[in-house]
Amino acid sequence: MPELPLSSADLHAVLAPLDSARPLPARAYWDEDVFAFDQAEIFGRSWLCVGREDELSRPGEWLLAPLTPAGVLVVRGADLELRAFHNVCRHRAATLVDGACGRLDHLECPYHGWTYELSGALRAAPHAPPGFDRGAHGLLRARAGVLFGFLFVTLDPGAPALESALGGAPPWLSRPELRSLRRGRRVEYEVAANWKLCVENFQESHHFPRVHPGLERLTPCDDAVSWDMGGKGGAGGPWLGGIMALAPGAETVSTSAARGARPLVVPEAERRRVRDAMLFPGLLTSLQPDYLLTYRLTPRAPDRTLVVADTYFHPAAFVPGFAPGDVFAFWDAVNREDRAICERQQRGIRAPGYAPSAYAMVEDGVHAFDGMVARRYLSALGAREA
Ligand code: FES
Ligand SMILES: [Fe+2]
Repeated sequence: MPELPLSSADLHAVLAPLDSARPLPARAYWDEDVFAFDQAEIFGRSWLCVGREDELSRPGEWLLAPLTPAGVLVVRGADLELRAFHNVCRHRAATLVDGACGRLDHLECPYHGWTYELSGALRAAPHAPPGFDRGAHGLLRARAGVLFGFLFVTLDPGAPALESALGGAPPWLSRPELRSLRRGRRVEYEVAANWKLCVENFQESHHFPRVHPGLERLTPCDDAVSWDMGGKGGAGGPWLGGIMALAPGAETVSTSAARGARPLVVPEAERRRVRDAMLFPGLLTSLQPDYLLTYRLTPRAPDRTLVVADTYFHPAAFVPGFAPGDVFAFWDAVNREDRAICERQQRGIRAPGYAPSAYAMVEDGVHAFDGMVARRYLSALGAREA
């Protein structure tokens, strides 16, 4: 692992109380060595969301998660077990599958035809040498698990178990009814900005009036509160959250602000709230009265981030005439606005004219996220000094 070109003093300054803290040093957003650390030590050691459990309900269904250059294949086995594999042939490294998802009864490499069971075991290796041990050459595994209907994978064999690693989640994500949501749409796009800028943007709403006037009308930033994380400023676990109120007259967040026939995905008493949650490092969720948004971030380069954005509705919403175009159009516009402002910020953060100064007092969520990042960097620096 390359040395982190960051100073402990700058990182400790992030951890000061909000009113005297200083944001992360600019270099954290553009330096190649910091990026390599983020990939290997933050994303490489976390449980990462790769989709929803119902995407792999039948044996043989697979999805390819963009967590590595080759991707990680998540497959429902014939025994209904979920398994994750590196999408790389053990013969001479060709990738096994292309695309986002599909269904297979075995995996066959397109290069020389090595074939694998859905369990990852090597079934056939044409022209293998005499005595070749097929049992020792199955696909290399990652770990997979399910929590709240989300599918997770970790590339770290030593990571803590899923439930304990992801403890302390906001209560609204664990409601059983959310497990049955169905995806209405997926869009993917790249943002020419560091992944941390994308998360920080999600962590505050005081950019709404200038960047998203349409969103500000429906969920005014003055009515936003951070979800209580036990007063630990994010030190206690990988989750952060926030709650916003719908403006009078708005039933939901969409171009029409009307829910129409779409069933609620939250209890009746909570239908005037929007609840956001961030799972460190790269899952952003937003629970609206009648749908759930998720954004999965994958860092591609110091200044490039892949975003996979999904929208889920109540299963009973999918009736003839179901037309959630008002939701999609609204969020397409908001996502474009966020993308443009984060890209603008990336251009500035690399410029010699920037040095971090202070957080706004309504940026406690950004401060908490930056604290999570700063602690990772500090523990790596401390380990080196120890
Ligand atoms: S690389 Fe896969 S069979 Fe040769
Ligand atoms: Fe935004």
